[in-house]
Amino acid sequence: MSKDRVYIFDTTLRDGEQVPGCQLNTEEKVIVAKQLEALGVDVIEAGFPVSSPGDFNSVVEISRNVTEPVVCALTRAKVVDIDCAAQALHLAKRKRIHTGIGSSDIHIQHKLKSTREKVLEQGISAVKYARRFVDDVEFFCEDAGRADLEFLALMVEGVIAAGATVVNIPDTTGYTLPWQFGERIKYLYDNVPNIDKAIISVHCHNDLGMATANSISGLANGARQVEVTINGIGERAGNTSLEEVVMTLKSHPYLNLETNINTKGIYAMSKMVSHMMNMPVQPNKAIVGKNAFSHSSGIHQDGFLKHRENYEIIDPEDVGVPSSLILLTARSGRAALTHRLQVLGYKFDKDEMEVIYMHFLEMADRKKQIEDEDLFELVKIDEVEALL
Ligand code: KIV
Ligand code: ZN
Repeated sequence: MSKDRVYIFDTTLRDGEQVPGCQLNTEEKVIVAKQLEALGVDVIEAGFPVSSPGDFNSVVEISRNVTEPVVCALTRAKVVDIDCAAQALHLAKRKRIHTGIGSSDIHIQHKLKSTREKVLEQGISAVKYARRFVDDVEFFCEDAGRADLEFLALMVEGVIAAGATVVNIPDTTGYTLPWQFGERIKYLYDNVPNIDKAIISVHCHNDLGMATANSISGLANGARQVEVTINGIGERAGNTSLEEVVMTLKSHPYLNLETNINTKGIYAMSKMVSHMMNMPVQPNKAIVGKNAFSHSSGIHQDGFLKHRENYEIIDPEDVGVPSSLILLTARSGRAALTHRLQVLGYKFDKDEMEVIYMHFLEMADRKKQIEDEDLFELVKIDEVEALL
């Protein structure tokens, strides 16, 4: 059975970059955009042009410098924003305007100070206006995770009829649970008569740590575009991370969903974004964290050395990490120590290993982590023999 294509919409340079301390200049944004192109993303959200002259300029330069991905610019549902985005995108080979408005009653009443009828009308007008400039218009129903479902369906139907090619269903506040978010997407497929005329996109935030799970649930229920950032950077607790979604789809082939991402480029991309945006990756971060392919307890190390798949569901080389790591600590067993010594060219018999292991434990308690240099000290041959 052939797989369905999932489009990867990367918003590292828009939703990710708006985080304090993560700001890049135009030159840096172009470098990241070209690397995203090499990684195989389908859409690059390059910025929010009306927000500042710097953002406008970045969208212009990214449009000039990338050719394969669609370049996308964000707007509110306002003429002034859409005019500005259209101008910023004029050099793009493939371009998209991403416009939208709040869809939940909380946003409608307390942010927009408006009514459902008025925001619906404003959204529809924005799509029609944006279509004057580009053939590809994405509409976001902000805070769709908390919106009244019947109203959300009405909004989706209205903007598709007005010409939206993609409709984004964001869980802006990261509020929903995976099955609830999936049910929202399913409800839209069951209740919006013209839904097949557009691609449904999911854009999830990570406030409860559910962003990836919610995105996968949305995809499993029919969405075919997912909005992500590298390393999951983004507002508050962040956005869905590209590497988690891509590797989840790859690791679960029965979902029959595939992306265009060259997964071997993931680790380098993560390193570049972390370095340029001054945003360290937590060591236990899935896929790209320093410990993602490190094994430290004796039982795990022994199992891993017997067969990699005992403790790894992904081959690190598939994401561009050269190899797994066996960390030598006081929790390590004899198997891990013997293995590392063999890599370093040493072979000892059982009695010798026993003596070395006892000294290793004593050293590991003292030093926490044992490096190769420490092992060279530990196994000075004469001393080992003298100890026997
Ligand atoms: O989280 C969100 O709702 C957004 C929209 C602007 C798409 O980032
Ligand atoms: Zn967002």
